[in-house]
Amino acid sequence: MDIWTRSFARAAGFTVTLAALIATTALAQNKPGVASPDGRNRISVEVRDGKLYYSLERDGRAILLPSQMGFEFRGAKTLRDSLRITGSSTSTYDTTWTQPWGEVAKVRDHHNALRVSVVETAPPSRRFDVVFRAFNDGVSFRYEFPDQPTLKDFVISEELTEFAFADNARAWWIPSNRPRLDRSEMLYSSSPVSVMDSVQTPITMETRDGKTFIVLHEANLVDYARMNIKGPYMDNRTLHVALAPLAGGDKVRGHTPFVTPWRTLQLADRVTDLAPSVLGLNLNPPSVIKDVSWIKPMKYVGIWWGMHINTMTWSSGPKHGATTANTKRYIDFAAANGLGGVLVEGWNVGWDGDWIKNANAFSFTQPYPDYDLPGLAAYAKQKGVKLIAHNETSGGVVNYERQMDSAFALYHSLGIDAIKSGYVTDTTPEGHSHHSQFMVRHYRKVIETAAKYKIMMDVHEPVHDTGERRTYPNMMTREGARGQEYNAWSGEGGNPPEHETILFFTRMLAGPMDFTPGVFDILIERGTGRPRRPEEPRIRTTLAKQLALYVVLYSPLQMAADLPENYEKQPAFQFIRDVAVDWDESHVLEGKIGDYVVVARKARNSPEWFLGAITDEESRTFDIPLSFLSKGQSYVAEVYADGPGANWLTNPLPVAISKRTVTSGSRLHLVLAPGGGQAVRIRPAK
Ligand code: NOJ
Ligand code: CA
Repeated sequence: MDIWTRSFARAAGFTVTLAALIATTALAQNKPGVASPDGRNRISVEVRDGKLYYSLERDGRAILLPSQMGFEFRGAKTLRDSLRITGSSTSTYDTTWTQPWGEVAKVRDHHNALRVSVVETAPPSRRFDVVFRAFNDGVSFRYEFPDQPTLKDFVISEELTEFAFADNARAWWIPSNRPRLDRSEMLYSSSPVSVMDSVQTPITMETRDGKTFIVLHEANLVDYARMNIKGPYMDNRTLHVALAPLAGGDKVRGHTPFVTPWRTLQLADRVTDLAPSVLGLNLNPPSVIKDVSWIKPMKYVGIWWGMHINTMTWSSGPKHGATTANTKRYIDFAAANGLGGVLVEGWNVGWDGDWIKNANAFSFTQPYPDYDLPGLAAYAKQKGVKLIAHNETSGGVVNYERQMDSAFALYHSLGIDAIKSGYVTDTTPEGHSHHSQFMVRHYRKVIETAAKYKIMMDVHEPVHDTGERRTYPNMMTREGARGQEYNAWSGEGGNPPEHETILFFTRMLAGPMDFTPGVFDILIERGTGRPRRPEEPRIRTTLAKQLALYVVLYSPLQMAADLPENYEKQPAFQFIRDVAVDWDESHVLEGKIGDYVVVARKARNSPEWFLGAITDEESRTFDIPLSFLSKGQSYVAEVYADGPGANWLTNPLPVAISKRTVTSGSRLHLVLAPGGGQAVRIRPAK
């Protein structure tokens, strides 16, 4: 049996729960390969003229043409040009594991793996393995360098991995090379792969025949630079890895033994099959946190939006938001409405002056004099609400790391078990890219330290999500995209109505996002107490769409972002009180990138379902069969729809709330206004 036959035999029906290693001889190794358990996704590897290539097919059609592999080192020969395959082996794996929280409770990891061993035929005769895994929902590979005399300490100046796309697929992307915006807070563009420039991952692609969707990303980024992608600049369809640089230009410093992150290509026939994405989770090691009982998804409010719309300040002074009295008001509001947490920004010393430049001025333990930290922690505890501590670092990671242990110990002693951190900066004060190995190490160190003190993390201006939450389930959510905040102050007037319909099929495939939905004061008038000038930014959705975002944009820490006073006398606020934040199942019922999404999710350990539907600037209707409901059970659907005449531009506020009895045989007819949405809670009838 050669490797192909073996893989197919396995696909045909063997269920193997433990990795079964089958060693093969060096002779049979000219073109080792591996296929996914269903046989559809196939990788093959070969050496031509001393260079190592891998390629990818789906149903016999090329997805990646032979794509080169290798590394460029500083002070050492490029590892690429005189390679030979010395052996290979395959194995298979099938297990199902449970997420402590997530978009789905159970995740199946079923894959076939191929290990290819490679040696340089000329000095310095370095050796490495490439490990491939083929799943039904995509493929991945990583490089593994064993300890060896001619490769000890090394500096990678570039990873030479290519992705030679067979099709000039349409890609959705954000740029990675914007000067002074070394983050991920941009609007998405789409273009054929062949004209992409420098972009961030995940990149979502649709082949020109519409038959295959491909998402290029990475998994298990621990001690390496984040992968960006350098486009082909119009000559072909070959994408190259472009690692985020350290100050001075080096990419990765390490020593053997060493493994790289996984390069991942998620594959699906329909765009609605891309989410929920679990490929990256399967490529991260299982949780190292044994007792996860303290890790709890929750909704939260915060002293936050006021700063973004200029009615409060982070800094001290007459408009200081984080005062004892104001925080009590938010705690009371959270307690009265069953919301779990209260985020407080601007509570700690460091915000006065130009806080974006004063990276080393932040204290993470010293409150402003008008903020009674221990008193408020006790007050919150008595009300059954969690305070969420804000840690803006301004990129001063050395300053932050110096204080981290004492700060986290303090929070733990006060019962504060969640932190929102922030890195509003472009490069660190030391000159490292926001996404460099230096920052990747830092973010990981924060997660580990937080775990030690039983603290959950919500990271703003993060490095992109590569599945960390599997190993550290205290890594709850992160920003890493353009969130609601841009609707308060961005130059372009806010996020366009299509924005969230693109986020869902791009950024959200990497992991949860703290988008901060739920602003009801759509025109930002009530909050500021004055009418909005037409050129000022505002929310470019209807109010009903703000509700739908709670279901569509998954986050285990989910904010009710508006000022508490803007939820008063608003019947629609009931949906935010009711909506779940943790799920057993998630299903994408309808979707088109940039146009619309309809998602149904079943609440964790509960018979309730929630449905969220959003559209871009077009109005749309959907006819949704409720066949996902339990047969024979009668339910009440509580519908929050765009009201008569609703329209994001001219009339965003009307919401029509209605109730009807439904069963698994019913259909819901959804009507979405331009820029609108619909949110539905489906609960068993009494
Ligand atoms: C940017 C974050 O995204 C936002 O949520 C926060 O309020 C500010 N930085 C200040 O830290
Ligand atoms: Ca931000």
